[in-house]
Amino acid sequence: MANEAFTDIQACVFDAYGTLFDVHSAVARHKQRLGDVGDAVSMLWRTKQLEYTWLRSLMGRHVDFWRVTGDALDYALDAHGVDDTGLRDDLMQAYLQLDAYPEVRSVLLRLQRQGMRTAILSNGSPMMLEAAVSGAGIADLLDFVLTVEDVGIYKPDPRVYQLAVDRLGIDAERMSFQSSNSWDAVAAATFGMRVAWINRFGQRRERLTAQPHAELRTLEELPPLLGLE
Ligand code: LAC
Repeated sequence: MANEAFTDIQACVFDAYGTLFDVHSAVARHKQRLGDVGDAVSMLWRTKQLEYTWLRSLMGRHVDFWRVTGDALDYALDAHGVDDTGLRDDLMQAYLQLDAYPEVRSVLLRLQRQGMRTAILSNGSPMMLEAAVSGAGIADLLDFVLTVEDVGIYKPDPRVYQLAVDRLGIDAERMSFQSSNSWDAVAAATFGMRVAWINRFGQRRERLTAQPHAELRTLEELPPLLGLE
């Protein structure tokens, strides 16, 4: 499908995990300690982490993303027969210092220089997001770092996307929302934002409520989509 035009955009709002930060970089740092189950642990960790956010939201039993991330890691390690408390703690610490994707800093800088407002809107807890943002050296390139902790429920609940509208004071259709998580992209489009799905891994489109308005391979393609340099 061809990308639609993004006109009159006043703010770029980014998902964090998977979009700006590589969630698999935590396991990558300790790969030799996990042996040949490293990739499987990393995939299951992420899958369970997301499932737990959805399930907790449906049950009305919110806890923050740090707790969910730890629970998911415990499940993934247990599923692969890894019983190593030191490794578990090191993986959690590594999750606070995830690698940013290589283009992130330069794209945020380009956007900022051309007057675009920028924000993160993430499931991450304030502590986690602060660590990730400062570790990636992008704190000065973000006008807002918004966390679901302020609404007490996870994506894709519409209250999360509404938080960006309320805090930025910009209408949803004047915002460009970027996520590599296909379901997050769908939810933001359903809410009414303009959405660029950053399809880093060549995934299939979801069959859900709405489609993103553009599909990009990396964030490098975002400024031209917005008519910027
Ligand atoms: C986030 C998850 C969806 O950062 O990756 O909100």
